[in-house]
Amino acid sequence: MKILVTGALGFIGSNITERLVKDGHEVTALDNLHTGSEENVSSVKNKIKIIKASAGDIAKLDERFDAIIHQGVYSSSPMYKDNPHLTAKAIDEWISILEYARKNSTKIVFASSSSLYNGNNPPHKEDMPILVKDYYTEARYAMERMAKLYSDLYGVQSVGLRYFSVYGPHEKSKGKYANLITQFLWEMKAGRQPVILGDGKQTRDFVYVDDVVEANMLALNYKKHDFFNVGTGKSVTITDMVSILAKKLNSPIKPKYEPNRIKNYVQHTLADTSKAASLLGFRAKVSLEDGISRLIKSY
Ligand SMILES: NC(=O)c1ccc[n+]([C@@H]2O[C@H](COP(=O)([O-])OP(=O)(O)OC[C@H]3O[C@@H](n4cnc5c(N)ncnc54)[C@H](O)[C@@H]3O)[C@@H](O)[C@H]2O)c1
Repeated sequence: MKILVTGALGFIGSNITERLVKDGHEVTALDNLHTGSEENVSSVKNKIKIIKASAGDIAKLDERFDAIIHQGVYSSSPMYKDNPHLTAKAIDEWISILEYARKNSTKIVFASSSSLYNGNNPPHKEDMPILVKDYYTEARYAMERMAKLYSDLYGVQSVGLRYFSVYGPHEKSKGKYANLITQFLWEMKAGRQPVILGDGKQTRDFVYVDDVVEANMLALNYKKHDFFNVGTGKSVTITDMVSILAKKLNSPIKPKYEPNRIKNYVQHTLADTSKAASLLGFRAKVSLEDGISRLIKSY
């Protein structure tokens, strides 16, 4: 297939791009380099076309793609708090993608987020009410609603994937926005104590990036419009996650606990994976222990 990947130079987008190339697809990578880096696609750079532009610039492309995998959205909640106008930009660029898909009969798979469940008790299920508590979530919620609208009005086939906490190779260019496991790994490798906010009993559903890539591949072949959780269905406390890291690194370093002053902090995340399993055939395969071993090898 001829596939456009937005955000292809970022963490998840570059892992998706590598997989698509391996599977024999023709890939065009579109990225504005906000948090992305060409280094992330160095293994496939001679096999893909790279366009340095914003996702909304899709309207200027004089080319037809069979599918778009849309990861190219400002990727972290604090970015939106610093600049609330990013909310409008994310939605506006999304409309450009939906318009392109409508005119070209292009299938879309797009990144959504488990942050939509903030304020709901776990396990988090796709039909829970969405309680918007920050700009980032508003952008994602509006994007999902627009996707449904374009499906209802024009039959545009899009699949939204609500990623939980994704970790894996190619997070370096995300810096302070990288996953907690990866940031803690970098701290411990540098001989520093990882700082846990609060008592460390908060829990996360951490999902390894290879599983997220697999969910995208399954979604490419899904013939209807829908939304799915992409998580493992298991959660771990932050303190236990650091213990696994320390054990795997053979490190005596212990975490440091500091008061958590973040407003609307999410205490627990956990995906209900039943819908993705039954309709998409997706089940995360990489355990946290295995994922952390792979992570350590990659950095
Ligand atoms: N990593 C996670 O745990 C997680 C969880 C939930 C949702 N998501 C979503 O998944 C997507 C990918 O996230 P990631 O973790 O790979 O982050 P990332 O920051 O590494 O990737 C985003 C990529 O998109 C590019 N980009 C940003 N805005 C763009 C724009 N307007 N036009 C074109 N390119 C743009 C960036 O330069 C970067 O390469 C994002 O939409 C993110 O919000 C990620």
